[in-house]
Amino acid sequence: MSRMPIIAGNWKMHLTRRRAAALARAVAAAQGQADGRRCVVFPAFVHLEIVRRNLKGSNVQVGAQNCHEMKEGAFTGEISAPMLRDMGAQQVLVGHSERRHVFGETDARVAAKLAAVLANRMAAMVCVGETLEERESERTLEVLQRQIQALAGVLRAEHHGRFSVAYEPVWAIGTGRTATPRVAQEAHAAVRRLLAGILGAEMAARTPVLYGGSVKPGNADELLGQPDVDGLLVGGASLDIESFGPILAAAPSA
Ligand code: PGA
Repeated sequence: MSRMPIIAGNWKMHLTRRRAAALARAVAAAQGQADGRRCVVFPAFVHLEIVRRNLKGSNVQVGAQNCHEMKEGAFTGEISAPMLRDMGAQQVLVGHSERRHVFGETDARVAAKLAAVLANRMAAMVCVGETLEERESERTLEVLQRQIQALAGVLRAEHHGRFSVAYEPVWAIGTGRTATPRVAQEAHAAVRRLLAGILGAEMAARTPVLYGGSVKPGNADELLGQPDVDGLLVGGASLDIESFGPILAAAPSA
């Protein structure tokens, strides 16, 4: 089953309007007319509009890094899925490890956010992954199972094409410590088996599973070379076209 590779940039809480606009233009130029790979960037909420405008005419998508699960209400400081949709966001990252571990998002909350994104006709990229302590105590599979099983009540076959998973081992995020291609492949195969359990083998085989955690130009190739690694979610190295460009180029363009 061939799945079109996706290279995603998670800009986190970085950049200014001006630098986000310039980076968006550089990413659009690097992606060019490539139709053999997808590219999506996730700027801060306040940069969504300017990034969207600077990506116009390209096939690079723009997404948000988070959303609130409710449509509207007295939730000071939060942003809803309908607001993001209205802003032109095409995707939303759901359950990033920083949301889970720094902001305490539970599996149930992640599932509710996934439902909100899908109900608002955007695509969701759901992040899963174990902490170092969980890996060292051999609980990786159990954690992935719990995180993916939590999505079971929300995901339907009709969501195909609007749902991807990013496997991001927490110990590899921002640490410079990338999972080896073998470790990534093992986890990706497990994620796909777990997805098959809730979606059926056919839809699981068609669902993109991206790897994230200290992806750099030097390791993009071999990670993408693994049979179940369908793309890369890049943090630090996505903030500079000097590093993001080569990562993008590691995915086939046609
Ligand atoms: P990193 O972040 O590439 O800086 O490790 C990845 C992520 O958090 O999505």
